Amino acid sequence: METRAAILDGVGQEWKVETITLDPPKAGEVLLELVGSGLCHSDEHMVTGDMVMDPDTASALGLEQFPFIGGHEGAGRVVEVGPGVTTLEVGDHVVLGFIPSCGRCPSCSTGKQNLCDMGAFLLAGRQVSDMTARHHRHDGTDLGIMCCIGTFGEHTVVNEASCIKIEKDIPLDKAALVGCGVTTGWGSATYAADVKAGETVVIVGCGGVGMNAVQGAAMAGAAHVIAVDPVEFKREQAQVFGATHSAATMEEATALVMELTWGQMANKAIITVGEGEGALIAPTMGIIGKGGRVVHTSISPINDTEVTMSLFDLTLMQKELVGSIFGSANPRHDIPRLLKMYREGNLKLDELVTNTYDLADINTGYQAMRNGDNIRGMVMYNH
Ligand SMILES: NC(=O)c1ccc[n+]([C@@H]2O[C@H](COP(=O)([O-])OP(=O)(O)OC[C@H]3O[C@@H](n4cnc5c(N)ncnc54)[C@H](O)[C@@H]3O)[C@@H](O)[C@H]2O)c1
Ligand SMILES: [Zn+2]
Ligand SMILES: [Zn+2]
Repeated sequence: METRAAILDGVGQEWKVETITLDPPKAGEVLLELVGSGLCHSDEHMVTGDMVMDPDTASALGLEQFPFIGGHEGAGRVVEVGPGVTTLEVGDHVVLGFIPSCGRCPSCSTGKQNLCDMGAFLLAGRQVSDMTARHHRHDGTDLGIMCCIGTFGEHTVVNEASCIKIEKDIPLDKAALVGCGVTTGWGSATYAADVKAGETVVIVGCGGVGMNAVQGAAMAGAAHVIAVDPVEFKREQAQVFGATHSAATMEEATALVMELTWGQMANKAIITVGEGEGALIAPTMGIIGKGGRVVHTSISPINDTEVTMSLFDLTLMQKELVGSIFGSANPRHDIPRLLKMYREGNLKLDELVTNTYDLADINTGYQAMRNGDNIRGMVMYNH
């Protein structure tokens, strides 16, 4: 069939919206009609080159990262199932997890679906079943797909391992957000940081992911939730999601936390800035007190290895610095759980989407993200 999708041809390029050819689903795969896709910052790392493998590594692995269809925060309806699909049928509503969860590998079978072995294929751009492409340009060129799903397209073909079936009364455009930003941010606070009632929590960077870390920390009962962001609009909006205080810089936040905690400093800090950088670690480790934990959720340039921090402080203050992918959540458990909280009025999703765009205007949406205008922008498909 033919459908429209946004393609990236290389580092530094704009997204190009084209009509593409989509093959029918093969064994274990489904064809989806998507409602829309969130414009997460992670796709931007492909544009800037921060998440692009060096050519030698890529060719050693037999991978071609470009051209590819972006997008990894989507939801839609199943319109066709391939042979051997047992968990889905035509008409089902699904959220696409940006990490597949096979349910059988060592990580999946021990409650760490966010670390599923199939995650090894996230940047491979091909179907996890046989490493071939279902998406093609009109000239026949194979197209990769971001995170095994490629949600910047009106339709896509994915493995059933990437699909989380959800209840049909949940609006699919809201559900899409839970495929990445919501669960990543919320889980960074509730699982990775393990925020407890009464704690002081600092969220550094309040975009689509960080705003949900604010929401998660508040829901976990934090007494003080300090939202740090240079953009005033983000600091204001953070209050809607439960922030008790805000600061424009780490210096300002450090002085504020010092005063709020009478010098004990924060229990937890979560880094969700657009581009992670080694230089941010020392001030963030400095804002937590004894026994505190810093969670690093931001993605940093793939080849960066420099981090500055006090190892003396790390040891003697018994601090922790941990990474987190997908908020350390289990997609098959947490995506339906978060949507249930939304239905019951306990999780904010409507307030996250600042602007929606037609697929043709995806570059405008990403420029708005760079300008700090959106908590989350979304491209919407009109079927
Ligand atoms: N670990 C994961 O599983 C995972 C999943 C999704 C996204 N991410 C990453 O999380 C990060 C955030 O994604 P997003 O979609 O929310 O991005 P975003 O662009 O929507 O938000 C980033 C926010 O950080 C703020 N910011 C930038 N520099 C800052 C600084 N020095 N101090 C404080 N705030 C600062 C910006 O103003 C913006 O509000 C990205 O690096 C993204 O790739 C990681
Ligand atoms: Zn994302
Ligand atoms: Zn698995």
